Amino acid sequence: MVHAGVTGWGKCLPPAVLSNADLATFLDTSDEWISSRTGIHERRISHVGLTELARVAAQRALAAANLDPAALELIVFGTTSFDDQAPNQASGLQQQLGAVRAAAMDVNTACTSFLYAWSTANALIRTGVVRNALVVGGEVISRFMDWNNRNVAVLFGDGCAALVLEACDRDEGLLGEKLGCDVGGRDALVIQGMGSRYADFERRYGVTNWIFDGQEIFRRAVIGMSQASVEVLAAHGISGDQLDLIVPHQANLRIIEAVAKRLDMPMERVFVNLQHYGNMSAATVPVALVEAVEAGRIKPGALLLLPAFGAGLTWCAHLVRWGARTVPLRESDACLPPAPHTALELVQALIRQRC
Ligand SMILES: CC(C)(COP(=O)(O)OP(=O)(O)OC[C@H]1O[C@@H](n2cnc3c(N)ncnc32)[C@H](O)[C@@H]1OP(=O)(O)O)[C@@H](O)C(=O)NCCC(=O)NCCS
Repeated sequence: MVHAGVTGWGKCLPPAVLSNADLATFLDTSDEWISSRTGIHERRISHVGLTELARVAAQRALAAANLDPAALELIVFGTTSFDDQAPNQASGLQQQLGAVRAAAMDVNTACTSFLYAWSTANALIRTGVVRNALVVGGEVISRFMDWNNRNVAVLFGDGCAALVLEACDRDEGLLGEKLGCDVGGRDALVIQGMGSRYADFERRYGVTNWIFDGQEIFRRAVIGMSQASVEVLAAHGISGDQLDLIVPHQANLRIIEAVAKRLDMPMERVFVNLQHYGNMSAATVPVALVEAVEAGRIKPGALLLLPAFGAGLTWCAHLVRWGARTVPLRESDACLPPAPHTALELVQALIRQRC
């Protein structure tokens, strides 16, 4: 049976850091409120578009796998904040990489988009349609943020990361997943202004209004992530103590702690990096995975559980066996141009554009 092992990984975080104190200069909020309610201390604001963030993350991932972009057969891009709707985000990245042989598709399930993209690529490799794939999770959500709304503006950040998957005969990569959508919670998170219904002269596409019921999302997220985790573990006969690390979607530290408690997992076996980045939507899980590898928290052959939720309310949990290698085969020298402005200046410019 063919499997789809992880052979490369790379991330790209824009350098401009927006602190909680920066947010308090233009919103009625405080570092104390944001830190205690969410665990978030700072987040990144991108000075470049998503294609550029993804190019750097992808080049680092391809170098780690030592895979020539021209040999790439598939790009699946998980995002909700693409640079263009047509042509799609994946083909924009394909063009930058020179991945001329690749098929290119986008997947949008909000914050779970990277994991649904991984499921898609995994299935296409395991059924023999392609032999390798680049799976990307990235967002430049700052461009679609309502920076006047403190309920949401303090929660999100920009970033991108990518994995390379390659066909192999070892029992590794994505072993199984549970996917679903709690549509009863669909109205709890709606970003008005990002779809074709807003493409008229009255409303301005991209000028968003976030409908957001934080407590309702919180409650449903804990149930969805825990339930999906229990089901995928049971389906594969795995008990919690066999897991080496949980790498969850990073939206709120209290959500992560509640899920860990329900799964009876100590927080020492849960990877958390949201204090630095906030909720990067589709980018949270892949960035956390890359950082867990870099920090030595993922050992060769490690068994991982990746639970997540997003608008929809989509939910999922992925069971992953990491391969034998946790060291990149090559390093890439790909990097972003320097940011000409501070994060606060970037956000102030976005606020001015909305007026
Ligand atoms: C949003 C969230 C942090 C709010 O935390 P909470 O403990 O539920 O806080 P509440 O909703 O009870 O709000 C409490 C008060 O803080 C206020 N508040 C909201 N945002 C604030 C901010 N940034 N700064 C200061 N006060 C704020 C509210 O207005 C409310 O005031 P009120 O009691 O006078 O009405 C939390 O519900 C959450 O993380 N939910 C999940 C959302 C999420 O991650 N969505 C992403 C989906 S992928």
